[in-house]
Amino acid sequence: MALHLSVRRAEPQSVDVPLLVVALPKNATLPDALEPLDTSLGNALGRTLDRRDFRGARDESLHLAGGAKGAQRILLVGLGDGKDSAGALRRAAALGARQARKLGASSFAFWSENLTEAAIEVVAAGLITGAWDYSDLKTPPPEDERKPDLSEAIILTGKAKGSEEALARGTAIGDGIALARTLAMMPGNLCTPDFLADTARDIAKRHRMKITVLGREEMEREKMGSLLAVAQGTPQDPKLIALEYRNGSGKPVVLVGKGLCFDSGGISIKPAQGMEMMKFDMCGAAAVLGAMQAIAELRLPVNVVGLIGSTTNMPSGTAFKPGDVVRSHLGKYIEIINTDAEGRLVLADVLSYARRFDPAAVVDAATLTGACVIALGHTAIAVFGNDDSVIQEVLAAGRRSGEPGWPLPLWDEYKELIKSDVADMKNSGGRAAGSISAALFLKEFVDYPWVHLDIAGTAYSESDLGFIPKGPTGIPVGLFVEFVRGRAG
Ligand code: BES
Ligand code: MN
Ligand code: ZN
Repeated sequence: MALHLSVRRAEPQSVDVPLLVVALPKNATLPDALEPLDTSLGNALGRTLDRRDFRGARDESLHLAGGAKGAQRILLVGLGDGKDSAGALRRAAALGARQARKLGASSFAFWSENLTEAAIEVVAAGLITGAWDYSDLKTPPPEDERKPDLSEAIILTGKAKGSEEALARGTAIGDGIALARTLAMMPGNLCTPDFLADTARDIAKRHRMKITVLGREEMEREKMGSLLAVAQGTPQDPKLIALEYRNGSGKPVVLVGKGLCFDSGGISIKPAQGMEMMKFDMCGAAAVLGAMQAIAELRLPVNVVGLIGSTTNMPSGTAFKPGDVVRSHLGKYIEIINTDAEGRLVLADVLSYARRFDPAAVVDAATLTGACVIALGHTAIAVFGNDDSVIQEVLAAGRRSGEPGWPLPLWDEYKELIKSDVADMKNSGGRAAGSISAALFLKEFVDYPWVHLDIAGTAYSESDLGFIPKGPTGIPVGLFVEFVRGRAG
């Protein structure tokens, strides 16, 4: 069930809710604004802080009983040392909402000191992402064993001006992240290239965007030999999806997503262990859809095109093979060394297709390389590009959105890695500098300002992180939106 959000000008001691979430910074003493609440709780809050049972560390939470009046229960959540206050607030809000759901609260209120307009926005986004879950495929328990659904959250604030607008903005971003997560969490037999196209059509219809969907036949006419090589092993129709949001002047920003609804590796098949994770190989595409929806809901005064290349990578009698040479949409020839290096083959043709939009800048997101996880782990997006100022713009958008990236070099020296004996290049550069050689491969297909985000380490989590469950993170929806917003001025 969707979480309904509202803002209310009320004091934390005076709200009658099943749960009050209170976010406090590290080593906080009792804020004055919480004195009346503390009094109504027989000073339980103040004592907890004095005893240092709760220290306000990032991701820390402590559950307390409520008083005779007001909130029935209290949940303290930590903000950490507050160096990145927006990120900390979003994370604490997400943790609070997630705990609220687990506790079986049907509604809750959220309080933190001095919530500005900007803070209300990130809290709203955080609450929505924290309340997100994917339970469509789980039969609900019988009525008498069911917990109430979490359906409502109230952000408490002293601020009246602009808070409704901030709430709407945060909701748009939170909903975009939730959409991306849901698409990614869906199993590969349900979230197919067709399903991604239908989802895009739905967004286009709701927000009056132009949409173009190419299938196998249209791609053959376009001579997209690289994307089609990957799609050769599956009977499912591959899709190239273009969503056009036009609400400004000038050249558009183009957001590109890798949409492998499943990546088995193809003939160069992956080991069975963990292969089910490769349903997440469409997280880039999911983020493009989530971001396009959010950008439209925010009514940003810009032109943005969302582009997705979607198929599945399967071994079969018709599949492409190592040693094959394919002709890409751009005309360059590619020798296939490893059919598991399929993402760059799909993106090569999508990036080449993007030229027709005469882009101001293109940012692509792809779960492209295992090497990215080795280099940067699950903490930072790997950032590459051919234009230093756009790279800096993307890095700044990543910091603002709490989805940080870190740059890696694209020096010509690395081009050695993808030299082919028979063709213009080969699709695998081996293990050394694996993320760089993949990005250098993509660079061969762009002639505009371009940034590539390798999200293999950050698009999904293999463990529960507290503020995020095991599964997709929604990254980089927030970065995409911030990047476009930055350009909206
Ligand atoms: N989708 C994978 C990359 C990946 C690996 C994403 C692990 C998330 C977690 C990609 O298509 C792939 O298989 N890449 C190969 C490239 C290699 C064959 C050059 C890889 O990283 O091993
Ligand atoms: Mn692969
Ligand atoms: Zn892949």
